[in-house]
Amino acid sequence: MHESKKIAVIGAGPSGITALKNLLDKGLNAVAFDRNADVGGNWIYSENESHSSVFETTHIISSKTLSQYADFTFDDFDPEIADYPSHDELRRYFQAYAAKFGLYDHIRFGVLVSHCERTQNGNWEISFEKDGDLYHETFTHLVVCNGHHWLPRWPNYPGNFTGEMLHSHSFKKAAPFEGKRVLVIGGGNSACDVAVETSRVSEITAISWRRGYRIIPKFFFGQPSDKIGEKSSWIPLKIRSFFFDILLKIMVGDNKLYGLREVETKFGEVHPTINDELLYKIRHGKVKPRLDIKRFEGNKVIFENDLVEEFDSIIACTGYFLSHPFFDKELIDYSSGPVPLYLKMFHPEINNLYFIGMFQPLGCIWPGAELQSKVMARELAGEWSRPENIKELCEREVSKPHYQQINSPRHTITVDYHKFKKDLEKYLPSEYISKNPPKLTAKT
Ligand SMILES: Cc1cc2nc3c(=O)[nH]c(=O)nc-3n(C[C@H](O)[C@H](O)[C@H](O)COP(=O)(O)OP(=O)(O)OC[C@H]3O[C@@H](n4cnc5c(N)ncnc54)[C@H](O)[C@@H]3O)c2cc1C
Ligand SMILES: NC(=O)c1ccc[n+]([C@@H]2O[C@H](COP(=O)([O-])OP(=O)(O)OC[C@H]3O[C@@H](n4cnc5c(N)ncnc54)[C@H](OP(=O)(O)O)[C@@H]3O)[C@@H](O)[C@H]2O)c1
Repeated sequence: MHESKKIAVIGAGPSGITALKNLLDKGLNAVAFDRNADVGGNWIYSENESHSSVFETTHIISSKTLSQYADFTFDDFDPEIADYPSHDELRRYFQAYAAKFGLYDHIRFGVLVSHCERTQNGNWEISFEKDGDLYHETFTHLVVCNGHHWLPRWPNYPGNFTGEMLHSHSFKKAAPFEGKRVLVIGGGNSACDVAVETSRVSEITAISWRRGYRIIPKFFFGQPSDKIGEKSSWIPLKIRSFFFDILLKIMVGDNKLYGLREVETKFGEVHPTINDELLYKIRHGKVKPRLDIKRFEGNKVIFENDLVEEFDSIIACTGYFLSHPFFDKELIDYSSGPVPLYLKMFHPEINNLYFIGMFQPLGCIWPGAELQSKVMARELAGEWSRPENIKELCEREVSKPHYQQINSPRHTITVDYHKFKKDLEKYLPSEYISKNPPKLTAKT
């Protein structure tokens, strides 16, 4: 039965490599395609434009104990790794995972998947480009792991800004902003990280928020904050949020103390912003809080409260689109939501298509992607079947999300890290960790 299956995986980032590893573990015939030259996806930092959106100084916001594969932990890789590893440590971790599990022989690098189409008998015809040539190959199953933080979502304002305008995807380092007047837009993790970085060298850095955000420190009581979250994950969300807000008030204080917009949302209603330096920089006068932008006039920005200021550069840290440019839009288009996929991976109608890593946890992505991959591999190996009421379950993903979040384009694929893991573990045997899978033989 396995011989009749030929599986294509798009992407060899943190999600693609765990998809591939778990398929190969089951003796399935799988190959991954990646446009990059190596494993790592978003975590391959480059000063040039690339798939990656990390910058020179990026460290993750989910701590190491909650940001590791069960099959290859940070202890297996480097026990001395920091609580919050840097992009380069992560790149090396992902590449070590691929090497340990013999994945390199099953990945075709420098290959851009340009089109995926269903054939008359339901297989997938994949078109891909390599070294300027176009190829086509047919597969029985398709696994999509192309990432969801690479296609910039730009804001629109009346008027024209005549200075330099870039998106956080293109922000690589602070040095080019030395002595400049910089405005950063957004209140997510990119915006706060970028504002802190430019403020080290700029004449002035301002940050414009269209609503108030909780700025959560990376540590509480000397412990990574997500570890505190893990310990309390059994407490109902409402009670947890209530106590969490009190804790935050004691440790950090109200936003108004910092001149920032007040928080008007409940915990979980907005993707969390985790940053230890922004508030410090504000209190040291290095970052200036600003309201939403009303309009541009040349190099001037007019804010909601009619404050007018001149800037040299604007960095829009306004998030990313979910994008699958290799599908016809009539077949798959999740760019403006909703995303009705059971466990964020199973399509309601197309049963030879899987999405891995296309969810936004309040926590880390790749441990969940690893569990999704194990469930997928079990199904493809004939060890498990998806529930029969899959369509209903897909609809429920949209009508009953883990968190009731505010209506913002970025909130279409949010999951609760702990609940999501439990939901997936339900479909796995209790001993699902596979640190030493049988030696792989097939070379694709
Ligand atoms: C600045 C920043 C910090 C982040 N910090 C965290 C964090 O702390 N914790 C966390 O969990 N997440 C974080 N993320 C989210 C990030 O998306 C995930 O960490 C992770 O990279 C997701 O892995 P992935 O494999 O799904 O996608 P990616 O890492 O984006 O990998 C996708 C791969 O697919 C390849 N690909 C895409 N399209 C094609 C195609 N058409 N043909 C061939 N190959 C293709 C790409 O080359 C790439 O290698 C952060 C994101 C950013 C931008
Ligand atoms: N150090 C790290 O580990 C790190 C660093 C950066 C990013 N990340 C991760 O990468 C992912 C993307 O983060 P991100 O910060 O780039 O994007 P994001 O989470 O989508 O945040 C975008 C921000 O821009 C705001 N925004 C969007 N459109 C706007 C508009 N038209 N005008 C004004 N504001 C607008 C959003 O406001 P709303 O509140 O209205 O949505 C939000 O504050 C997240 O998963 C994040 O956790 C991690």
